[in-house]
Amino acid sequence: MTENETRALLVAHAASLFQRGYSVGSAGNISVKLEDGYLITPTNSSLGRLDPARLSKLDLGFHHVGGDKPSKEVFMHRAFYMARPTAMAVVHLHSTMATAIACLPNVNEANPIPPLTPYFVMRVGRTMPIVPYYRPGDAAMEPAIRAAARDARAVLLANHGPVVSGRSLSDAVYAAEELEEAAKLFLLLRGTSPRLLTTPQVDDLLKTFG
Ligand code: 13P
Repeated sequence: MTENETRALLVAHAASLFQRGYSVGSAGNISVKLEDGYLITPTNSSLGRLDPARLSKLDLGFHHVGGDKPSKEVFMHRAFYMARPTAMAVVHLHSTMATAIACLPNVNEANPIPPLTPYFVMRVGRTMPIVPYYRPGDAAMEPAIRAAARDARAVLLANHGPVVSGRSLSDAVYAAEELEEAAKLFLLLRGTSPRLLTTPQVDDLLKTFG
């Protein structure tokens, strides 16, 4: 895919997420790795109205080299790329249900959402820990996210929202959507004793679908 095609795909995914309510106002940010750096959404931009030509461009050292001023969450995105060499894109949302879980006391902080459905396991993986609260844009979050992301494709930032990585831009977006659906199911089923996927079923999914 050329850089221009990647820019167009990022803008299309972002608009689709915004139109379906996964992001409101200027919340959320998306980045994607290129051969010579990264594209990231500009700070204070609405995912619903991005201009492909004005996306922020960073070099491979995460320095701003083109486009509008980058998201203040560059540290959050960098943490994933550094921890996960296979990560090609990172999506951060404040999607309601996942963020609700990130605000709940008495959840399993190491893995708050159990394996309810195959697509959650296939897209998000076996574990998705909660990372402690940091002010948005605080560089201090980077080591905490980096440590958590070594063993997880996605994390929930306490009282803030999900951050999801993927092997491609579409993969990361689909994982962020699947995570929000799993969060919805988890909250819907809270207080009941739902049947969970068994460990062999989870193993089989990860072996088959990676
Ligand atoms: P930016 O507008 O700087 O990308 O920040 C939005 C956000 O979601 C903060 O977490």
